Amino acid sequence: MKQAKVKIHKDFQIARTDPRIFGSFIEHLGRAVYGGIYEPGHPTADASGFRQDVIDLVKELNVPIIRYPGGNFVSGYNWEDGIGPVADRPRRLELAWGVTETNEIGLNEFAQWLQKVNAEMMMAVNLGTRGVDEARQLVEYCNHPAGSYYSDLRIKHGVKDPYGFKVWCLGNEMDGPWQIGHKTAQEYGRLATETAKVMKMTDPSIELVVSGSSNINMPTFGSWEAEVLDHCYDQVDYLSMHQYYGNAENDTPSFLARTLDMEAFIDNVVSTCDYVGGKKHSKKKIMLSFDEWNVWFHSKNAPFEPWSEAPAQLEDIYNLEDALLVGSMLITLLRHADRVKIACLAQLVNVIAPIMTVKGGPAWRQTIFYPYLQASQHGRGTVLQTLTDSPKYDCKEYTDVPYLDTLVIDNGMDGISILAVNRGEEALTADYELNGFTPETVRLHTVMTGSDMKAAHGAGQDQLLAPVNSRDHRLEGNQLEVLLPARSWNVLQLS
Ligand code: AHR
Repeated sequence: MKQAKVKIHKDFQIARTDPRIFGSFIEHLGRAVYGGIYEPGHPTADASGFRQDVIDLVKELNVPIIRYPGGNFVSGYNWEDGIGPVADRPRRLELAWGVTETNEIGLNEFAQWLQKVNAEMMMAVNLGTRGVDEARQLVEYCNHPAGSYYSDLRIKHGVKDPYGFKVWCLGNEMDGPWQIGHKTAQEYGRLATETAKVMKMTDPSIELVVSGSSNINMPTFGSWEAEVLDHCYDQVDYLSMHQYYGNAENDTPSFLARTLDMEAFIDNVVSTCDYVGGKKHSKKKIMLSFDEWNVWFHSKNAPFEPWSEAPAQLEDIYNLEDALLVGSMLITLLRHADRVKIACLAQLVNVIAPIMTVKGGPAWRQTIFYPYLQASQHGRGTVLQTLTDSPKYDCKEYTDVPYLDTLVIDNGMDGISILAVNRGEEALTADYELNGFTPETVRLHTVMTGSDMKAAHGAGQDQLLAPVNSRDHRLEGNQLEVLLPARSWNVLQLS
């Protein structure tokens, strides 16, 4: 049997995880809002029309921060359309996704929902069709206590206390030709700088996320980050990253190796941020907000009726191998906890999501729900430097891919957690040398695996591939031997 060796030491630490690394995203898109979180008349709907079954699943995931309202949607959105009496709100042609937006849900209703799921708002402003003025007015509406036009308007709308939203995105994917109001790096860099200035003048306590490249394959990748940051380095706190992966070629070994690209993507962006910082003789470090990441390809080009209200869009049904890659993506994000402070699984409900809903029926968990849940449960603490010596494989798109992708997290009083993906078609033994720890027992050992990588969940069948308990481990002193089944997601917790 193949064997891997892993060494850690309690004192060799990467960083404490920022809880916001377990964030997510809800866009006005498809059935994410309408028919997702909101379905008046549903048997579990509360007085405001929010589905309690969805609230319960989001709470189970313990999602600390949720990006809203887009996405591509935000680049054509007038935030004022979503405030005030619902009956007076305009129906609009929503150009990003080719549908009709009723504006029944706006920022106040969404903020109300966030309270129910105990999550913080990560608000995006429109820098596609709009700019400086609308962004500062939105900050004033949301965060200014009282005594000004927009703060008094909020109070008139029934929200007495300011929200104090802390994290704000300066537009979305502004480098993408598909984006409404797409810009060059020079145009966006200037606009982001001036918008950031007035937003922080309105509320100096906020933190700002500037748009990076839409993905690593963008032709302007690298130069976009450098030029945009050249303009706004002093005004912003985070640079945004987005990346989705797919397996349209049905090449599982390459698909499961995609996180090698994600790793390189993060390293390159960190270097670019620090290059600009160095050039500016700045003491400040720009942190990363990986605010869209997931598997996305199953539903590409699925038909829907143009200009309809909340049609099914981007409803990927995830299988087992998708869950393994999501696990590996979570490990990759956590491994960079020194720079990645915010990350958002895109998205949360119905749209490329871990949670799905049936109209009038149940909400259910996709396969990817589980690695996200377990990373959120066990990934909080101090991420340790994890030295892995794993056998490797070559495949169509990569060479030297380690079979084992793993990470150890020091959970403090709760012990230590191990997250591990075996990418290979055979079982693997991993020997962990846990220096500086004296573990007593393996409190938890679960495995998510199966013989059919294409197996998926459906409504009423969302436990099929859920992680199951395992006893395939041996603990002697600080040496732990674990059996990692072929193509599996594994979680252990040691007390
Ligand atoms: O998450 C779906 C879409 O993907 C978002 O609207 C956009 O930002 C990205 O291209």
